[in-house]
Amino acid sequence: MNIQHCYNFNDFRRLAKRRLPAPLFHYIDGAAEDEWTAKRNQQSFDSFALIPNALADLSQLDISTTLFGRKLSLPLFCSPTAMTRLFHHEGEYAVARAAAKAETLYSLSTLSTVSIEEIGKLSDQPKMFQIYIHKDRGLTREFIERCKAANFDALCLTVDTLVTGNRERDLHTGLVMPPRLTLKSLLSFVLHPQWSLNYVKHEKFELANVKERMQSNPDLLSVMSYVHQQFDRSVVWKDAEDIIQQWGKPFAIKGILSVNDAKRAAAIGASAVMLSNHGGRQLDGCAAPFDVLPRVADALADRLEIIVDGGVQRGSHVLKALALGAKACSIGRGYLFPLTAGGQAGVERALDLLRKEIERNMILMGCASLSDLSPEHLMRIT
Ligand code: FNR
Ligand code: LAC
Repeated sequence: MNIQHCYNFNDFRRLAKRRLPAPLFHYIDGAAEDEWTAKRNQQSFDSFALIPNALADLSQLDISTTLFGRKLSLPLFCSPTAMTRLFHHEGEYAVARAAAKAETLYSLSTLSTVSIEEIGKLSDQPKMFQIYIHKDRGLTREFIERCKAANFDALCLTVDTLVTGNRERDLHTGLVMPPRLTLKSLLSFVLHPQWSLNYVKHEKFELANVKERMQSNPDLLSVMSYVHQQFDRSVVWKDAEDIIQQWGKPFAIKGILSVNDAKRAAAIGASAVMLSNHGGRQLDGCAAPFDVLPRVADALADRLEIIVDGGVQRGSHVLKALALGAKACSIGRGYLFPLTAGGQAGVERALDLLRKEIERNMILMGCASLSDLSPEHLMRIT
């Protein structure tokens, strides 16, 4: 099986599972505790059914949108994910290039293995940098200046990760904090020689944006301890406001689920909120972004760009979110599995399949442009 035989999220996931040593597969696939929230993220889209319009003229179709002041050719983009280089040796380059080809936004994580500057040089397509605030506050100010110099379009501040969630799959596989490699996980690296060979053969793994500040170069196992040691838990709204002031361009808060937090985001001058629970990796039991979308959109769709992030696996999911007031959706695992399965070509294929699903479903819905989608096109069924 190769990527040409993959037609959807589950196909790519299955192929990725074969290609990746188990601890890394479960690091991507897993979520916190009982993984209830991760499951709910996916299932939340099932609580509404689509109601199409008949006989609308569909000779012209436009699925482009604007976000952060930039045009995207489709209402879907790539969320920031840490340590991408671990999953495929082409790392963040592959995802950023595939996103640029699809003419959509790429977001780079603070904990990426390719630097702000390298991604900045790659294309003039829209780019966002995701900030984790470290105890060393100078680092945040530095990120902002580096993003200005590298022509990033937007910043987002992730607010749901003061500690990492309790990801029990990582405890079982040995990818834990403090680091511990079990015999089982060692075996899994030996059983995936292709991945292991690529891992040692290509550019060394490093956290490219923060490496100057690390006492020692982190290996695969010490990244989690890095998060626990370095992230600042005293972050408050004033800090987000200071970032917005220093940055002066489009800004999103990522990891919000409540109307009140969305209102505060608008009040301090954020231009967007990413309704997100980190793909269920943080607080298990918390609500799915799609479930909270109606109330946030009712209160704020005219003041903020609303992004839905979590469990998005189909074009129809994107249509449902847009019908309820979201401006765009974003995906994490939805491009990480294709990346693992086939590098840049895998991500390109996944984005292309999703684009086609969105286009086909828009036609089937009787909607010629995204602004035609409204709550009228949905019926709550649970
Ligand atoms: C993430 N996510 C994430 N978010 C963030 O703000 N900074 C980060 O460094 C990471 N790292 C990360 C690694 C991995 C392996 C995953 C799967 C996710 C969360 C990510 O941006 C996004 O919120 C979720 O992935 C969305 O859920 P889906 O699309 O994976 O269901
Ligand atoms: C994760 C962190 C690092 O979700 O964002 O794994």
